[in-house]
Amino acid sequence: MGGPALLEVEDLAVAARSRRGDLEIVHGVGLQLGPGETVAVVGETGSGKSLTMLALMRLLSPPLGITRGRVTFDGRDLTALPERDMRELRGSQMAMVYQDPMTSLNPLMRIGAQVAEAMTAHGVAKSEAQRRSLELLARVEIPDPERTARSYPHEFSGGMRQRAVIAIALAMRPKLLIADEPTTALDVTIQQQILALVNELRRELGMATIWVTHDLGVVARLVDRVVVMYAGHVVENAPVDQLFHAPQHPYTRSLLAALPNPADDSRPALVQIPGRPPLPTDVVEGCPFRPRCDQAREACRVRPTLQPRSAGSAACWVPPAEWRP
Ligand SMILES: Nc1ncnc2c1ncn2[C@@H]1O[C@H](COP(=O)(O)OP(=O)(O)O)[C@@H](O)[C@H]1O
Ligand code: SF4
Ligand SMILES: [Mg+2]
Repeated sequence: MGGPALLEVEDLAVAARSRRGDLEIVHGVGLQLGPGETVAVVGETGSGKSLTMLALMRLLSPPLGITRGRVTFDGRDLTALPERDMRELRGSQMAMVYQDPMTSLNPLMRIGAQVAEAMTAHGVAKSEAQRRSLELLARVEIPDPERTARSYPHEFSGGMRQRAVIAIALAMRPKLLIADEPTTALDVTIQQQILALVNELRRELGMATIWVTHDLGVVARLVDRVVVMYAGHVVENAPVDQLFHAPQHPYTRSLLAALPNPADDSRPALVQIPGRPPLPTDVVEGCPFRPRCDQAREACRVRPTLQPRSAGSAACWVPPAEWRP
């Protein structure tokens, strides 16, 4: 990567707190992102991707909370930052786009005013914000911005709403954009358009991006590195080419096997991984993937930690050279 990291997450844990004690859901996640770098965070639904992102934006609400770890963004320790400073960072230096655009839009406010507000909230003069909001709507390819700026969210299609949310997220030219499954609810053609758009804007603005997705296929051509999560743990972290061609964790290999192969129609579109991921309340002895792993052996009764493996790292006792076919 070279140079100082823009974002460094170390041993970040999230738990649901109750009088009976903490139920840990995210078990000490680490990740690093350089300026302008793109990383995908991938894993089945329920693996703790969203909670990790909300934790590093400091957006968890009770009973969920950060129980340990550190998040350093642009040289500042976010876990120790007063809420007022955190609010200033969010939406200016770091921005997030969610799966459902309606969670980020005010149904009672015109689209143009919402884009402008993202700037006035951070000290941009109103007239300047209004002018820039039209530019931003045009930039995210919303047709006829002068007219559409006066529309309300319900007058927009799902794809157009997501474009408006992206315009809001980009309004202050953030250094980091987190996109949490931003296209999952959209049809495939619109998904591809939105992904291509964000990717282009990312290059143009030199913005670092975290793509969160349950679908490894979506991010193949978009990212530099992939972080694979399973049951609240990072199980592999690797450059994208290595991850696709020489996965170092049996779970990553299973995710790849489950991808549809465009070159081979005879293969079923989805090879499901047998079994299901453990819930936060399930107790699994040793490696969390053990109940579903076709490589499991006696050593796996002890929990593996993330270790350097090839050009990345993996949390598995068994190197690929020793895998059974
Ligand atoms: N308030 C909560 N209390 C208990 N468990 C929760 C709470 N919120 C989320 N979870 C659980 O945390 C796990 C991780 O959730 P999430 O981060 O949303 O996963 P992902 O984004 O990878 O699909 C899930 O098993 C979910 O059921
Ligand atoms: S440690 Fe064992 S059970 Fe876990 S992924 Fe590796 S081989 Fe499978
Ligand atoms: Mg999620």
